[in-house]
Amino acid sequence: MLTIRSIKKMQQVARQIAAEGKTIGLVPTMGFLHEGHLSLIRRAKEAADVVITTIFVNPAQFGPREDLDKYPRDEKGDIRKIKQAGGDIVFVPKAADIYPDDFQTYVTVEKLTQGLESKSRPTHFRGVTTIVAKLFNITRPDVAVFGMKDFQQAYVLKQMTRDLGWPIKFIIAPTVRERDGLAMSSRNKYFTPEQRAEARCLYFALCTAKAMVASGIIDVVKIPKEMRAVIKATCPTAKIDYIALTDSVFLMPVYEVVRGAVCSLAVVVHGVRLIDNMRLL
Ligand code: PAJ
Repeated sequence: MLTIRSIKKMQQVARQIAAEGKTIGLVPTMGFLHEGHLSLIRRAKEAADVVITTIFVNPAQFGPREDLDKYPRDEKGDIRKIKQAGGDIVFVPKAADIYPDDFQTYVTVEKLTQGLESKSRPTHFRGVTTIVAKLFNITRPDVAVFGMKDFQQAYVLKQMTRDLGWPIKFIIAPTVRERDGLAMSSRNKYFTPEQRAEARCLYFALCTAKAMVASGIIDVVKIPKEMRAVIKATCPTAKIDYIALTDSVFLMPVYEVVRGAVCSLAVVVHGVRLIDNMRLL
């Protein structure tokens, strides 16, 4: 497996792969990889000849009070895992090369970035779309794979891909969970075992919502109310940032649970902000 750190070299290699008539699959990540990330690499491998995984903790998507400095890193371990998962190339650019001092061009998706995550993280998606646009330009993928775990991110990036006309097949892969339901996340490593048990509150709340819908309750006031109770019972100190019931096209609130409705939520559990989502119908 090839590890590339220079943008120029990555561009040369990508051009060469294309010249050989092979397709490229791209899996962008911020590293500290878990089974969720690896599932994307395997999915990309099914859809393309050569899979490029990128590792870059993107400063532009972190707010001033967020965890950029303490974001977990393990480059050696990541490279080993990517190789085992069948990855072909790892691209690990340097922040100074991606964002040189005079950097001043950003990509913004306008409507889909309005609600949900943006209320608490107003500059987040501008950072995400800008880095992914740059990675698309550097690696020229035929296929790109993102996780449903980051529901809004996936739909924002899909919209950007369509709007800017990249000929990229856009795949959204399902969320991989721990055995007890907690969605895998690099941020789960911040928890002590006791806190980790309470972090299941998001999954429990989503399962409650799903069960309510299955029993015929589609009221968008009753469902979040019950979810809040479940969160408080599992993690009494949890701070609920939002619980939203939206459609999966415009990501707009629904007035009752209809086909395609997704419940997404953000909860701060012992100082760690977690997000999760589940399709309800
Ligand atoms: P990161 O959080 O490292 O996630 C990289 C990719 O893995 C994203 O597409 C994310 O949705 C997916 N992912 C994370 N946890 C997952 C899980 N439990 N199951 C399935 N997929 C999962 O998301 C980012 O990095 C960044 O914003 C990035 C897109 C790389 C831009 O910097």
